Amino acid sequence: MSDSKYIILNEIESTNNYANQLILSNAAEEGTVVLAHYQIKGKGQGKNNWESEYGKNLLMSLVMFPKFLPAENQFMISKVVSIALIEFLKNETELVSIKWPNDIYVDDRKIAGILIENSVKGQNLSSSVLGIGLNLNQQFFMSDAPNPVSLGQITGKNYKIERVAKIVVECIQKWYVKLKENQLSEINNNYFSLLYRCKGWWNFRERDKVFEARIAGIGEFGQLMLELHTGERKEFTFKEIEFV
Ligand code: BTN
Repeated sequence: MSDSKYIILNEIESTNNYANQLILSNAAEEGTVVLAHYQIKGKGQGKNNWESEYGKNLLMSLVMFPKFLPAENQFMISKVVSIALIEFLKNETELVSIKWPNDIYVDDRKIAGILIENSVKGQNLSSSVLGIGLNLNQQFFMSDAPNPVSLGQITGKNYKIERVAKIVVECIQKWYVKLKENQLSEINNNYFSLLYRCKGWWNFRERDKVFEARIAGIGEFGQLMLELHTGERKEFTFKEIEFV
């Protein structure tokens, strides 16, 4: 897997869709990396689009076959990718964190998004497309996505996209090996310690109700566990809760 195969495309609908097609046609090896200069219909979480100016940012999908992983533990893949991105970013800047479940933040601004698309066979995963959009050189953002930022805006540097892709892939491989070797507490502890607002009391919104709570942990399936001032604990899945 260390000799990843890179497919570099100019314009494509979505690198995730392209990678999924490769899997469907049995043309993807583990570690295949799909990169594009531009996505016509870059996919974000839910129904969102992913904005990225031509040639400015990392748009990448990495194909893996985590056949060892029970489908119910699929959130571990999100953890691995999030930690790997933070590992790369920490060499470039400070105040990097993972905004649960898997947005990558620098201070209060989103620098990267992750979209993982899994296929399941029996009890386990059969394939996984690890989609990453990492803002590198874009200077202006048009969409109404909340608080986008690029690494270049923060550091003033210009990043070579393929070089960054290689480093990020290496970081993912390192943490993926830990997952394969079942070193789950190391992954879980790292993920928790890198969480945005993991310490202290913060406001959260559940539907139209705002309340103060602190992050108590992450559940087995990736749920956010919050502790209220009363000591009561509540669990939330993605979309049930928002940071205010
Ligand atoms: C998010 O909404 O935070 C997730 C964004 C994921 C964007 C990346 S860009 C490369 C890959 N291909 C896609 O269509 N989406 C992901």
